[in-house]
Amino acid sequence: MEYTTLGRTGLKASVAGLGCGGNARLGLQRGKSEAEAVALVQRGLDLGVNLLDGAAAYKTEHVIGKAVKGYDRDKLILTTKCNPAAAGELRPVEDIVESLDNSLRELGQDYVDVFFFHAVHPKHYAEVRDRIAPVLQREQEKGKFRFLGVTETPPNDPIQEMGSQAAQDGIWDVMMIGFHMLNQTPRVRMLPHIIKNNIGTLAMFVVRNIFSVPGRLQEEIQGKIDEGKLPEWLAKEKDPLGFLIHEAGAQNLIDAAYRYARHEPGCDVILFGTSSIDHLEANIDSILRPPLPEVDRKRLNELFGDVEGMGLDVPERKKAG
Ligand SMILES: NC(=O)c1ccc[n+]([C@@H]2O[C@H](COP(=O)([O-])OP(=O)(O)OC[C@H]3O[C@@H](n4cnc5c(N)ncnc54)[C@H](OP(=O)(O)O)[C@@H]3O)[C@@H](O)[C@H]2O)c1
Repeated sequence: MEYTTLGRTGLKASVAGLGCGGNARLGLQRGKSEAEAVALVQRGLDLGVNLLDGAAAYKTEHVIGKAVKGYDRDKLILTTKCNPAAAGELRPVEDIVESLDNSLRELGQDYVDVFFFHAVHPKHYAEVRDRIAPVLQREQEKGKFRFLGVTETPPNDPIQEMGSQAAQDGIWDVMMIGFHMLNQTPRVRMLPHIIKNNIGTLAMFVVRNIFSVPGRLQEEIQGKIDEGKLPEWLAKEKDPLGFLIHEAGAQNLIDAAYRYARHEPGCDVILFGTSSIDHLEANIDSILRPPLPEVDRKRLNELFGDVEGMGLDVPERKKAG
């Protein structure tokens, strides 16, 4: 494993971070047992993953709690999140504090390393930053969490307005941003500010559905052609990203996606979610491989650099067990 400094937190994070929500929810969404989910997390830990990304909404924190028993807590980075809104309205701040307390109980921990406001909508952002965050900072002073962060809601904010503003504000130690090889919006809107403010970053949506659900890539490309954002000839390509896969390049599309994000300046940790130990091992291998050949990276940037909001959809739950 390789480790990096998570921005101004100074935490030493593995460059591959295990997402405990998303499509797979550590396998619980795919019909796997709790024991299998614990084993999945522990395989990641044994391979050197030290960042586990949790959230109240994922309902996997009890699994994380069980999995980390017996590992050196000081070397782990545990996160939790609470969505400050429900049904489109901001929740009472006491509910958010209660959610944090409940997450600590589920995790069996006295503290987490990062508490995130989860999936903050642009319309709520200013109030979260100015009114709600100061209340949570009092919980931080009590030692319940070490660093404060915010995560985007790309399906509801495809132009990534909230993250673009948050990257410029002084308050956030860590941000979780939606970034992948066909959604490069953060490169211009966020990452320069993130680098300047030394904010730690976790990249999400690196694979999601667009690169893992058969046919989804073609659908997304067609959608952008229909909007006039991509050239028509791409629709005729049976394998529009086939140019990435060759002996000196990527092994497959998922390998390409993880390597593309991993080597983007300003992206510290690449999150991946899975229900499968084979996928977990393959993803860690990909995240540790060298950058894509420059010629392939350039072609991706030329083709997709100006396209906004591709592949930023809600979790794919069809295959749920
Ligand atoms: N707003 C937020 O805060 C927010 C939003 C989204 C995500 N996240 C975080 O980011 C994490 C990752 O989410 P994500 O959106 O990047 O991805 P994801 O939702 O975890 O989806 C990854 C998908 O790719 C599949 N996959 C993974 N590795 C594969 C491989 N090697 N080969 C084939 N298929 C593979 C997985 O299915 P298999 O089970 O078959 O591997 C899964 O369906 C989440 O768990 C969560 O921690 C946070």
